[in-house]
Amino acid sequence: MTAAILDGKKLAKQIRDELRDEVADFIENNAEVPTLAAILVGNDSGSEVYVRNKVTGCEQVGMQSRMYRLPAETSQDELLSLIAKLNKAKDEPVHGILVQLPLPKQIDVTRILPAVSPLKDVDGFHPENVGRLVQGKPRFLPCTPFGIQQLLVRNKIEIAGRHVVVVGRSDTVGKPMALMLMQRGLGGDATVTVCHSKTNNLPEITRQADILIVAIGQPKFITAPMVKPGAVVIDVGIHRTGKGLVGDVDFSGVSRVAGHITPVPGGVGPLTVTMLLVNTLAAARLLH
Ligand code: GUN
Repeated sequence: MTAAILDGKKLAKQIRDELRDEVADFIENNAEVPTLAAILVGNDSGSEVYVRNKVTGCEQVGMQSRMYRLPAETSQDELLSLIAKLNKAKDEPVHGILVQLPLPKQIDVTRILPAVSPLKDVDGFHPENVGRLVQGKPRFLPCTPFGIQQLLVRNKIEIAGRHVVVVGRSDTVGKPMALMLMQRGLGGDATVTVCHSKTNNLPEITRQADILIVAIGQPKFITAPMVKPGAVVIDVGIHRTGKGLVGDVDFSGVSRVAGHITPVPGGVGPLTVTMLLVNTLAAARLLH
């Protein structure tokens, strides 16, 4: 069997095309341009690329962005005071705020995420928004799981009643992904198992997955014998190697077993940025 490719790049373009029209309508009706403030502390090269993609993504759909670059030695209080200013911004509106992670070690992320106004929290990381997701009343869905759910739904992949195995338990991907797919209704109703680095007999569990979502942060961690024939495999990982970019899934082996698979690059990545843009328009609507 050779797996069908789930093309995230193509879907991201389609969603951005839809979004461009919605943004134009919003501007016409509100005389205000949806605006994202992106904060980057330090000079992690991966983070620089991600933030740049977010900023250019805004321009592509007709939104504005403001990038705040702070030096690596920025103190926690300095970052908190910038966030407080952006939370209140009135004359020059800021609808969405994103603090790129990871942060330098002198800054406690658990003090930063709750400081962003929950109404501008386009990453969906504020405890209030996480709590709303847990209770099935989400305000902003975290961007990577949101993109994966869109990829499944828009490719008409059956989710309800199926066994989803999520490998990885991060606050940004694994945990919210599990919550979203177990939710009642469209894009949910799955039976979800969450595995992680301490799970015993991991291959035994991954082999039970109808849909296998991998966000463990280790190159080519999932190999063909760990996948049920015909399964849908979603690869969240991205690693730079001597031979180019690879994911958490061994693409060449697994694509011979799976029914559907996301490539790296061109799978989940372009959707993550796109869903941030969707959330920024949603934030602008909330503030009107
Ligand atoms: N770093 C890795 N993923 C993310 C994300 O989704 N949002 C932010 N702000 N930082 C990240």
